[in-house]
Amino acid sequence: MDAKSVNLSKEFVDKISPGSKKLKLPINGVKKIIAISSAKGGVGKSTIAVNLAIALKKLNYKVGILDADIYGPSLPQMLGISDKPKSEDGKNLIPISKYGLQCMSIGFMVNQDTAMIWRGPMVISAIKTFTTNVLWDNLDYLVIDLPPGTGDALLTFSQEIQIDGAVVISTPQEVALLDANRGIKMFQKTNVNILGIIENMSSFTSDDGKEHFIFGESGAQKMSKNLNIDLLGTIPIEIGLREGADKGEPYMEFVNDSPTSNKILGICLLYTSPSPRDS
Ligand SMILES: Nc1ncnc2c1ncn2[C@@H]1O[C@H](COP(=O)(O)OP(=O)(O)O)[C@@H](O)[C@H]1O
Ligand SMILES: [Mg+2]
Repeated sequence: MDAKSVNLSKEFVDKISPGSKKLKLPINGVKKIIAISSAKGGVGKSTIAVNLAIALKKLNYKVGILDADIYGPSLPQMLGISDKPKSEDGKNLIPISKYGLQCMSIGFMVNQDTAMIWRGPMVISAIKTFTTNVLWDNLDYLVIDLPPGTGDALLTFSQEIQIDGAVVISTPQEVALLDANRGIKMFQKTNVNILGIIENMSSFTSDDGKEHFIFGESGAQKMSKNLNIDLLGTIPIEIGLREGADKGEPYMEFVNDSPTSNKILGICLLYTSPSPRDS
């Protein structure tokens, strides 16, 4: 039996087709969702998510950040937040404001050890809460720090949430690139628009001005060429990025006009038009 013989509307058929974008839901109070992903932990996904969010704020957008890394939330530490989110109706959560960002993380509610041992169904229900019960206030951009890997949690986001663009973080070495490649394939299968790759920890410049390619050179460039995906930029190993993350004082908030801060701003400018709040 085909769709025609039972008189299904085109809209309905579109909705139930596998991989259909129509089933994906927007997030209330948010204009654009940018998802930061990496198939591997420890490549700087959270650091970049936080600093891109602050860069977008500096460009005059209203920005929120959702730490969806249920297994290893890092927003409380990276932004120095120890408050718990409030709820006026016992159902919807009010994001916490810090550095001009609206922030939400599972780490605000449970201690990190508890978050680590969550099982699949609990993870999915936490994701549902975060995508439907947070009172984001009129955001231009919500930056989501996605869970690493290609497991259930990531799949839930890719299949159910209307992500406007996914950014894949990788480091230059071969293993990280192989993992990133798997992440990219999953986004492609679930029809998520990939903005491009950011290569993190691309090089280190020592005090004498010499650039060292500690993890190898040009790996992400090669991958972007092979897979025909944009390389959005490279971010060097920068002690300030690490120190800021550890202190809860994000680099982009405190540093203006350094080579690294300009690279991060440049990545944001690539994908933003003049800010609606400039006029
Ligand atoms: N470009 C960078 N330069 C220096 N340190 C970095 C850089 N990117 C990330 N780090 C540090 O590397 C560690 C892992 O980064 P993190 O953002 O937590 O990774 P992930 O979220 O992918 O697990 C953190 O200590 C962070 O401060
Ligand atoms: Mg992280």
